[in-house]
Amino acid sequence: MTEQRAPMLDTLLEQAQKVAENSYSPYSNFKVGAALLLAGGEIVTGTNVENTSYGVTICAERAALVQAVSRFGPEIRVHALAVTNLNGAASPPCGACRQALAEFTEAEAPVAFPASDGVRVMPFAELLPLATEMKLK
Ligand code: THU
Repeated sequence: MTEQRAPMLDTLLEQAQKVAENSYSPYSNFKVGAALLLAGGEIVTGTNVENTSYGVTICAERAALVQAVSRFGPEIRVHALAVTNLNGAASPPCGACRQALAEFTEAEAPVAFPASDGVRVMPFAELLPLATEMKLK
């Protein structure tokens, strides 16, 4: 069966794959790329940047988010996103990145990523059903 995906998700997957070539990952050699589609139609990408102090590493998804806010400001909304890698491995967004994305991402935003059974697409809220939030009284 041929896979059916919205053409925009294919564009995001392609852009994510392209930016992964810029990955700085001498420690894991895992080259990840992320592409965000913003409400205004802009696409913003990011790749993982590792550090000799491992915990300082920034994932591709958060690199893209930081870039999106820096370029377009704090009101950005993410309408769709793709994460991929150059290693031919599964790469759903890590837990920390899901929480970071939750701040800016619509619950129904489709998230595309390679899984063990091929590219999967699921609504963001299924990846992180109960993101923490701070409601000050
Ligand atoms: N990585 C990402 O860029 N995104 C994820 O969602 C998972 C992990 C990166 C971090 C590190 O540079 C490498 O992949 C191995 O964990």
